[in-house]
Amino acid sequence: SHGATASLPLKGLNVLVTAGPTQEPLDPVRYLTNHSTGKMGYALAASAAELGAHVTLVSGPVSLEEPEGVDVVHVTTARDMFAAVSDSFAAADITVMAAAVGDFRVEEIAPEKIKKAGRESITLKLVENPDILAWAGGRKRDDGSQVLCGFAMETEHLVRNAARKLAGKHCDMLVANDLREPGAGFATDTNVVTVLTPGGPDEQTPHIEHWDLMDKTALAKRLLLRLAALRK
Ligand code: CTP
Ligand code: CA
Repeated sequence: SHGATASLPLKGLNVLVTAGPTQEPLDPVRYLTNHSTGKMGYALAASAAELGAHVTLVSGPVSLEEPEGVDVVHVTTARDMFAAVSDSFAAADITVMAAAVGDFRVEEIAPEKIKKAGRESITLKLVENPDILAWAGGRKRDDGSQVLCGFAMETEHLVRNAARKLAGKHCDMLVANDLREPGAGFATDTNVVTVLTPGGPDEQTPHIEHWDLMDKTALAKRLLLRLAALRK
């Protein structure tokens, strides 16, 4: 019915979401990670499903319940996440990368527990992980049928850093938040974001909108509707 279509604006679309942190093992008992809880990504996945999309959620380790009606792929490392995204990306109409991906991993995972005896310090050599969002930006179809959205959490120079990510990773939207803004940051149920899209006053300058404090679910819906509208 007309009513059903209006309430299911993402019906027929495939939405791919990344969420949560990654864990990069150091040895069989330890890992490197970050403070991401996955709340924003899970809100995006749940909302996309409620709006009628077919949703694949590629999730790092979090303690949230799987959203109803969503295909969840659980991953641990950035490389696992990359593999899962590369399996689903070609079929995705809208991709939103909300995961806090570890930028680096140890060059070699110690096969046995690293022991402290006889050492005053240790040095970990870290090597770069694949940039999943940049990979997706480089291979999305150029007919506008695949819309790509990244996130960025910054502690300084928010707009400048986010603008660089928007352009450098060929995103259609970049959602930036300041870690220190009240109501933003890790583990909150709300967010305060700056939304950047290409096509500002000149080539270098994106279009910028500052959105007021919002509940993460309301923010997720608003972002998804914007992204669907950007799709050609
Ligand atoms: N991202 C990704 N793969 C990575 C690193 C980041 O897909 N290896 C994605 C994130 O999911 C997010 C966006 O890129 O959507 C920006 O992540 P962020 O960490 O803010 O940017 P980086 O490019 O890694 O820059 P930096 O951490 O140095 O600020
Ligand atoms: Ca990073």
